[in-house]
Amino acid sequence: MKKKVVVLTGAGMSAESGIATFRGAGGLWGKYPVQQVASIEGYHQDPELVQNFYNERRRELMDVKPNKGHELLAKMEEDYDMTIITQNVDNLHERAGSNRIIHLHGELIKGCSSRNPYDPRFIVEIKPGEEIKMGDLAGDGSQLRPFIVWFGEAVPEIETALPYVREADYFVIIGTSMNVYPAAGLLHYVSYGTPIYVIDPNSVNVSDTKGMTHIHKGASQGVAELIELLRK
Ligand code: APR
Repeated sequence: MKKKVVVLTGAGMSAESGIATFRGAGGLWGKYPVQQVASIEGYHQDPELVQNFYNERRRELMDVKPNKGHELLAKMEEDYDMTIITQNVDNLHERAGSNRIIHLHGELIKGCSSRNPYDPRFIVEIKPGEEIKMGDLAGDGSQLRPFIVWFGEAVPEIETALPYVREADYFVIIGTSMNVYPAAGLLHYVSYGTPIYVIDPNSVNVSDTKGMTHIHKGASQGVAELIELLRK
């Protein structure tokens, strides 16, 4: 029986692929007012601005590829029962070959109904580089919108993630400042005594929980180091 490794990833996982993080130097929220481009209020206020913000981020997917960290996590499936819980909306874990991926904050490569975003009948694929324009309609006749969880919206996939976190033999946090809930709250569902690893070049906003090992490296080098540590 393979040991269960559950990995929570954030923007830092994709930093080495050239995708900007949110809160670090040069982060996205330093350039765009998060309330304006990543909240349900912002979408109601100026839907076209928000559509174009995500059209630009979706276009960016054409120019980036998975980094060594994504690839090593995918390769770990040979030896472990892997679950990737990601806050990222890019498709780099998929493109690296990981199979069980839970997107807490949606996916750039999908569009949905603006009346009922999580109705699976109206979730459609939007290819990297493709745009959603005002006037494009979802199957229920409402305006098509990015399949992204905005601030102020529910995070239904957290319910999917919880059982995996509870059952984890190892819990790994890669490239997230642990500032945003409910994602950051998953740490509190890790069973007592389960080894926790943090891979991040910077200090992370988590109380120094017992049994936590911080690998102060970027994702690519950090995952390589993690694999060695788990082998011991
Ligand atoms: N490798 C690993 N970690 C890195 C790297 C790297 N090469 N470069 C930066 N980091 C770390 C930073 O030190 C920071 O801790 O990645 C983290 C990025 O933090 P944020 O920018 O806050 O991104 P994230 O935690 O994913 O944000 C969570 O906030 O705005 C919302 O929906 C958005 O999903 C996002 C959520």
